[in-house]
Amino acid sequence: MTKVHYYAATTLDGFLADPNDSLEWLLRQEIDAEGYGSYPGFIAGIGAIVMGSTTYEWIVEYLKSSGEKWLYEMPAWVMTSRDLEPFPDADIRFALGSVRPVYDEMVTAAGGKDLWVVGGGDLVGQFADEGLLDEMFVCIAPVVLGTGRPLLPRRYDFELLETGRNKAFVCARYRFVGPLAEGQ
Ligand SMILES: NC(=O)c1ccc[n+]([C@@H]2O[C@H](COP(=O)([O-])OP(=O)(O)OC[C@H]3O[C@@H](n4cnc5c(N)ncnc54)[C@H](OP(=O)(O)O)[C@@H]3O)[C@@H](O)[C@H]2O)c1
Repeated sequence: MTKVHYYAATTLDGFLADPNDSLEWLLRQEIDAEGYGSYPGFIAGIGAIVMGSTTYEWIVEYLKSSGEKWLYEMPAWVMTSRDLEPFPDADIRFALGSVRPVYDEMVTAAGGKDLWVVGGGDLVGQFADEGLLDEMFVCIAPVVLGTGRPLLPRRYDFELLETGRNKAFVCARYRFVGPLAEGQ
């Protein structure tokens, strides 16, 4: 059964990026690339990814300034209402509106592997609102920013499945439960 993952790094106060989309606070942290929750182990199980346009434009700018190629081998959907340029030599599919048809296309493209909703937080919320989120894995950097791009701007319950440490980060894997149980 295909699972949908949210796998991200966050500040202690729940931000993916600062208000200017800077990840400087994240990229300077110590991390063991082969350690707990590391990216290579995660990405090996992923057959399709989806991201919002801010995340896409951040990646494009980063890759263009460093002269690097597209990072992902699997098909990537980018949610946008705008007419964006696809990155050269990359399998990128632009989409807008409901995420359900995007999910269906991703499952087919993934050929039995899992899906990764890269972010941002509201896009993850769009999947979760449709019942299309299974797990969240977060690595928490020892930083607070006060404001920024939110990890997940909704009210949900999660179940803690596992925790570990990777250098500067505390990491945790959660099962998505559903809308926050309130008034109980
Ligand atoms: N720390 C981490 O691990 C991590 C992970 C992921 C992202 N990030 C960073 O966090 C920030 C996230 O930015 P963000 O919060 O703005 O989120 P985002 O999801 O990257 O971008 C949001 C934009 O995507 C488009 N969009 C989203 N859903 C759509 C839909 N259903 N239909 C059409 N368009 C849709 C909209 O823009 P338009 O329609 O105007 O194009 C929307 O304003 C970025 O700076 C990114 O680099 C960090």
